[in-house]
Amino acid sequence: MGCFASSKVTDEAGVAKINDTTLSDDFHERYLLGIKLGLGAFAQVRVAAEVNNAAKIEKAVKIIDLRDKGEDPVSGQATIRNSLNKGLEKTARKEVACWGRLGSHPNCVCMEAAFFCHSLCYVVMEKCNSGLLQALESMPELTERGLGNIFAQMLLGICHCHGARVVHRDIKPDNFIVGGKEGQTIKLGDYGLSAMLVKREKTSGTFGTAPFMSPEMLKGLTYDVKTDVWSFAVVVYVLLFGNFPYMPKVQNTKAMKRAIIDGTPDITPSFVPSQRAVGPTGVMYSNTALTFVKSLLDREPDARPSAMDALAMPWMVAALQGCHMTGAELPSLRQMLHAAKRVGAFEVRNKLTESPLDKYLNELQESRHGRPLPAAGKKKADSGSTTPPSPDKGKSFESDSSSGTTKSMNKSSDTDSVFSGWSKGTSSAQSQSS
Ligand SMILES: Nc1ncnc2c1ncn2[C@@H]1O[C@H](COP(=O)(O)OP(=O)(O)OP(=O)(O)O)[C@@H](O)[C@H]1O
Ligand SMILES: [Mg+2]
Repeated sequence: MGCFASSKVTDEAGVAKINDTTLSDDFHERYLLGIKLGLGAFAQVRVAAEVNNAAKIEKAVKIIDLRDKGEDPVSGQATIRNSLNKGLEKTARKEVACWGRLGSHPNCVCMEAAFFCHSLCYVVMEKCNSGLLQALESMPELTERGLGNIFAQMLLGICHCHGARVVHRDIKPDNFIVGGKEGQTIKLGDYGLSAMLVKREKTSGTFGTAPFMSPEMLKGLTYDVKTDVWSFAVVVYVLLFGNFPYMPKVQNTKAMKRAIIDGTPDITPSFVPSQRAVGPTGVMYSNTALTFVKSLLDREPDARPSAMDALAMPWMVAALQGCHMTGAELPSLRQMLHAAKRVGAFEVRNKLTESPLDKYLNELQESRHGRPLPAAGKKKADSGSTTPPSPDKGKSFESDSSSGTTKSMNKSSDTDSVFSGWSKGTSSAQSQSS
């Protein structure tokens, strides 16, 4: 099976492009896979380290399964063939192309190379430390001040995408991860549903995760980068108020989409916290925060601020300057985070369950390096996740948490029950974009 790698080059304008060099390059010859960092609807993300890199800098690699899936005609059971599914390949190539346009920006996860081999797509990127939920949960104080800074960083990432004419189309809490030098930078990742816009043209199609989809997208209209601003506003809303702006009585994907489309007066956003909670001063939110979220949730895309306009609004300016309501005692918004988890603002996936893709990757790694993938959930023998095992330690190495427990990056650390039944939209777009 032919393999080729794409490496990133940067043009004069500083915009990275992916160079499709048809090198006969096998990802597994060059990299050693480590523990699973995360799991999405379409892919899994693992630690990876270059075999011939003395510095042993750990990267993350997103592995998208492009194999043909079908049904056994006799048993009716799901089967996976090792042949390449062209449709999936096209989608993965689009992700690589959109991501490649972004180059390097502190608030966007940086893609470094992409490989297409073994009917899989491997996207090598900078490794981050945690998901957004874990970062929010570990913040000693969760108030409007800290959240404002997080939202401003999210907006910086979104602005960068929009500047490169990339519409992300899947802005939601789980697609922001936390990393960087100090391990505290919010980064936008997952360009799996992104589209490139040509100049001022628009695109179409239903993509993303239901509660975060914009009215214009759900109505079947054409849309542009403003759809991301709506989704971002929903992220802000759910973390501030612990509820989605449009909350149907029945909690399912179809009803959620209907509620967003209808936007009728009786289900307009309330802008009140879902939990009975009052700050020390009797005020829950500042006017600057309320003005911000209200103006971003404008149902009319042309009237909705751009990501750049949003960054210039007082809450964001103050957040970036670190001077939001200094001295004022701000109420804790932790209850809102718990409520947000309960309504399904974060996805819960058990990355420890062994999937057919894990099995396949294990075979590929073993055939090249004579060692299997780290066993999921096993107690750690040593901490370096891609360092060669010492002979007496056997072949399984590293679990994904220091305690060897089953805590996932996106999984809540407390006992909140979480609704995670929002299905994803991935209609093929009759796109006017490239
Ligand atoms: N660079 C990274 N470093 C560490 N963890 C990462 C990195 N990129 C992604 N992850 C983790 O892997 C998860 C899945 O990645 P990603 O969102 O790209 O996959 P996906 O299948 O496209 O997801 P979705 O379900 O949103 O479509 C993320 O939610 C995050 O927890
Ligand atoms: Mg994702």
